[in-house]
Amino acid sequence: MAVQRTLSIIKPDAVGKNVIGDIIRRFEENGLSVIGTRMTHLSAEQAGRFYAVHKERPFYQDLCDFMSSGPILAMALEGKNAVALNRQLMGATNPKEAEAGTIRADHADSIDANAVHGSDSQENAAIEISFFFADLDLHSRG
Ligand code: CMP
Repeated sequence: MAVQRTLSIIKPDAVGKNVIGDIIRRFEENGLSVIGTRMTHLSAEQAGRFYAVHKERPFYQDLCDFMSSGPILAMALEGKNAVALNRQLMGATNPKEAEAGTIRADHADSIDANAVHGSDSQENAAIEISFFFADLDLHSRG
């Protein structure tokens, strides 16, 4: 399995619940390394640019409002099969469908306030990581 990078965002709901440490622990215990972190509070315009791929979806405005409602923690993660592994640890987008023991099953309240975001492909991971980080901000463990 190839070493990959992926983007994780701890969303405003999970930051508000003070479970940043619990979420990072799950990544580290499952073989992912945090190689970059940035805490920020997106404007609605920045959230809209990040989620531009969903522009035509009916939930776009609510998504942008929610993602700009409070601070988030963006992280670049690295490890074997990182894109799929992160998605497995997150669980399904809708927490009602998320497998027991996943981050969303344990911490998410709704499909909007669903605790975390993770890149869905290596191509999107590269785009999403570059939205938040310059190369100099990323520290691979090799
Ligand atoms: P995320 O992985 O951050 O990607 C887009 C987000 O849109 C998703 O998580 C959800 O929080 C939100 N969303 C709201 N409604 C839907 C929906 N019907 N399908 C997919 N995503 C949705």
